[in-house]
Amino acid sequence: APSDPDLVERARAAKEKLGDKVFVLGHHYQRDEVIQFADVTGDSFKLARDAAARPEAEYIVFCGVHFMAESADILTGDDQKVVLPDLAAGCSMADMATAEQVAECWDVLTEAGVADTVVPVSYMNSSADIKAFTGRHGGTICTSSNAKKALDWAFEQGEKVLFLPDQHLGRNTAVRDLGMSLDDCVVYNPHKPNGGLTAEELRAAKMILWRGHCSVHGRFSLDSVNDVRERIPGVNVLVHPECKHEVVAAADYVGSTEYIIKALEAAPAGSKWAIGTELNLVRRLANRFAPEGKEIVFLDKTVCFCSTMNRIDLPHLVWTLESLAEGNLVNRIQVDQETEHFAKLALERMLALP
Ligand code: 13P
Ligand code: SF4
Repeated sequence: APSDPDLVERARAAKEKLGDKVFVLGHHYQRDEVIQFADVTGDSFKLARDAAARPEAEYIVFCGVHFMAESADILTGDDQKVVLPDLAAGCSMADMATAEQVAECWDVLTEAGVADTVVPVSYMNSSADIKAFTGRHGGTICTSSNAKKALDWAFEQGEKVLFLPDQHLGRNTAVRDLGMSLDDCVVYNPHKPNGGLTAEELRAAKMILWRGHCSVHGRFSLDSVNDVRERIPGVNVLVHPECKHEVVAAADYVGSTEYIIKALEAAPAGSKWAIGTELNLVRRLANRFAPEGKEIVFLDKTVCFCSTMNRIDLPHLVWTLESLAEGNLVNRIQVDQETEHFAKLALERMLALP
């Protein structure tokens, strides 16, 4: 649906009033009505890197989800305030690893005698607590665009990796990019005693994958890939690495949201694409590239929005910008100092990857 013109005008006016005091970041999964007000758009790596690009901005309005806003707070100055337009915009995958569960997992690894050889690698899609755990234990953060580099780095530091919290990104990167076998990976289930693993299994494994996943990308199946290949002969299947291994293995191309956009920009006219990622982004790309004769469809037949990304809508953005313009600091995301210190170590290791 087109955005309410009155709200568009109010957002524009509030943003103009704030001027250089506000810096608006927008993740590629955001709604069109929100993304039109972003000063910078990007995948989670680009947004983490660019968060500190405007040190003079008092407010950083993060149109994305909670873990992204926390990371922006960690990576920006203490005088800069990060604001999330709806505090209920979380990420179900990030919620699948709590600090208590991860501390218990480390005890299990210690009992099994392997903790000394394990380097934690945590996906950006995790809470600041998990990032701090990672920093304390000599590990790094990664995103879907640098997971290979992060794993290469980690295997220079130690013999095994504990990959949190997305089992699919961990497995896909280990198998596709590092040439490991599926047998090199085990899955640690935080809801089972000892993660459901024996000490022997932990000693034999190279990749210890946390049992977390994205429910949005989990909807794509091998059937969706086979169906679309039948429906659209010659179609290129391009998916996000949060998809299940069998989907990634059957796809032609795999990459982050930024990679997906670049691949479609470079695609020749007349080419056909089925995209396996969140629907706001796929629809925007389909509309953008249709005039150039590129046919872009959603990989699955059912709709697949990320419900928490979608919580940031134009009414929330207007309320946020108008509140800030009136001097009311709302919905601030602030990570405590100790957590920030260790989480920053892990994030800075990621930013320093070659
Ligand atoms: P990107 O890093 O590819 O933008 O992915 C973020 C995300 O949440 C995917 O579900
Ligand atoms: Fe989290 Fe999945 Fe939404 Fe990304 S798409 S924010 S991983 S729930």
